[in-house]
Amino acid sequence: MVKVLFVCLGNICRSPTAEGVFRKLVADRDLEDVIEIDSAGTGAWHTGECPDRRAQIEARNRGIDISGLKARAVNVRDFTTFDYIVAMDEHNDADLRAICPASEQHKIHRLLDFAGDCAEHNVPDPYYGGDDGFRHVFDLVESGSRGLLERIEAEKLNHSHDGTHA
Ligand code: 4NP
Repeated sequence: MVKVLFVCLGNICRSPTAEGVFRKLVADRDLEDVIEIDSAGTGAWHTGECPDRRAQIEARNRGIDISGLKARAVNVRDFTTFDYIVAMDEHNDADLRAICPASEQHKIHRLLDFAGDCAEHNVPDPYYGGDDGFRHVFDLVESGSRGLLERIEAEKLNHSHDGTHA
């Protein structure tokens, strides 16, 4: 089993979007039995809440239902449980590294490091902006998630990109 945790600040906008997008990509590849997915926030203010309504609407417009997700905060056990801990921006990355044991630091990545030649390196926080921000977040998350799945298939599952076993 390969375990992936997406992390943002509040766990109500970006990381639940990433969880929903990645679940869909994984389901489309019939990999639900081998890849486990979760999301969390470096902050705990929104614990127990559903994703932000604007994130839910953007996801629904793209065919993905994230309405059932519930926010939680990252905890130190996550660093041993998960194989890929995927930060949305440089602040999430730094906050994670500050509490992550040295032996597990290699598990921390930025989502857009998997997004090929994407010009942006941070998925911007859309919380205080308009609906455009949520559209942009979704596009970035989709691009990073595709690259991440390819990486996992290559590194952990010995699959080539056409889906066959090596
Ligand atoms: P997220 O967005 O990190 O993508 O979930 C935010 C949600 C809430 C807050 C900040 C960012 N907040 O300050 O409450």
